[in-house]
Amino acid sequence: MAKGRTQFVCQNCGTVHSRWVGKCEGCGEWNTVVEEDPMGGIGSGPGKVPKKGRPVALTALSGEIEEAPRIHTGIAELDRATGGGFVRGSAVLIGGDPGIGKSTLLMQAAAALSRHGHRIIYVSGEEAVAQVRLRAQRLQAHQTDVLLAAETNVEDILATIGEGKRPDLVIIDSIQTLWSDTAEAAPGTVTQVRTGVQAMIRFAKQTGAAMVLVGHVTKEGQIAGPRVVEHMVDAVLYFEGDRGHHYRILRTVKNRFGPTDEIGVFEMSDKGLREVSNPSELFLGERNEKAPGAVVFAGMEGTRPVLVEVQALVAPTSLGTPRRAVVGWDSARLSMILAVLEAHCGVRLGQHDVYLNVAGGYRISEPAADLAVASALVSSLAGLALPADCVYFGEVSLSGAIRPVAHTAQRLKEAEKLGFSQALLPAGSAELPKGTGSRWSEIEGLPDLVARIAG
Ligand code: TYD
Ligand code: MG
Repeated sequence: MAKGRTQFVCQNCGTVHSRWVGKCEGCGEWNTVVEEDPMGGIGSGPGKVPKKGRPVALTALSGEIEEAPRIHTGIAELDRATGGGFVRGSAVLIGGDPGIGKSTLLMQAAAALSRHGHRIIYVSGEEAVAQVRLRAQRLQAHQTDVLLAAETNVEDILATIGEGKRPDLVIIDSIQTLWSDTAEAAPGTVTQVRTGVQAMIRFAKQTGAAMVLVGHVTKEGQIAGPRVVEHMVDAVLYFEGDRGHHYRILRTVKNRFGPTDEIGVFEMSDKGLREVSNPSELFLGERNEKAPGAVVFAGMEGTRPVLVEVQALVAPTSLGTPRRAVVGWDSARLSMILAVLEAHCGVRLGQHDVYLNVAGGYRISEPAADLAVASALVSSLAGLALPADCVYFGEVSLSGAIRPVAHTAQRLKEAEKLGFSQALLPAGSAELPKGTGSRWSEIEGLPDLVARIAG
């Protein structure tokens, strides 16, 4: 094989450098750059004759536009996150921290599919067949026709999954264990992972099998090393959760065949993952309704409303620089709310420690939580509990105004469904549901909020 000129690839972000450097210019990490063979077995051997293709006019493509053929798992939360099931001939990356439950989820999906007559091959590079079987037994999946293989070599895997009847779905657990004879790089490097993933994607495209790739995430929240893999696959899903809590969220961050921002919610039990069809009930499960600083935020995840409790603790500080600690929300956003409260409402927190927590280990990414956070802060500072049957949502601007957010009706509907009869929401919100027995109070700015709570 002709050996290409070597290149230097960052194992964290995949940036290619022409020479070795101590600090990657792409991501700023130190000591992540490793020498690799650029061709990495991508099959560009000498003597390949170029083949001429012919472009087709878009308008010349007639006939019905077909939906991508999907394989429904029957696990509703998984199908929701993937946009209706795994697409044949496509590759999906499922990332997450080690031990979060990726193998568990996929074994359950494999079993469900197998029960519906699909041919599933589960390739485990991390565990021996006996170990995988043990897990399957725990998940009541051992009586199914799922085929197991414990292999890490790309060529061996291709030979195994290419043999006999075509599989409908192949699971590779995990991409970090893949290594190919053709790539001249150490196992676990970006080149090896990329070569392996490329081979798996090619297999999926050629055979029409759906390919599910498992990837572990590093501390920094990236798929270990090969961020590049995200660009290669058709869909990327992250399996998230807090080890201290039982629930897990499958979050779609990229999807060529469906919507992103969708989530699937599961709960980890001793018999594997259980679907949670109403996440709000789960997140509001252990609520202490009478505590100052506790506020229910009516949020959205994709097309689904999610109610979750935001808790704040504001206490006089004994430190020179007061503490600001946030769990489950953006700390820059908290600083902004504190600044707006100080500048426009006269609420001084310079001598107070501020702790903010989103209950249940859940993470909020919407700016619509601003109003709920501000309410929790003011409530804690004043030592006054807020009405327990009220939900809050709205975005706070730097001027102190409260801005309307999308999906008002859906948020309110979910709140009513769960027994909330009041809501505090931005003035000028569209699509307010009419004729309900509940009270929706509109609010213009943060000063009104402070006056309302602290009197
Ligand atoms: P696993 O699927 O092996 O995680 P990953 O593949 O993402 O590394 O899940 C491991 C964790 O899940 C482990 O801590 C045990 C727990 N678990 C249960 O609580 N119940 C179960 O039925 C199973 C199979 C695992
Ligand atoms: Mg695993």
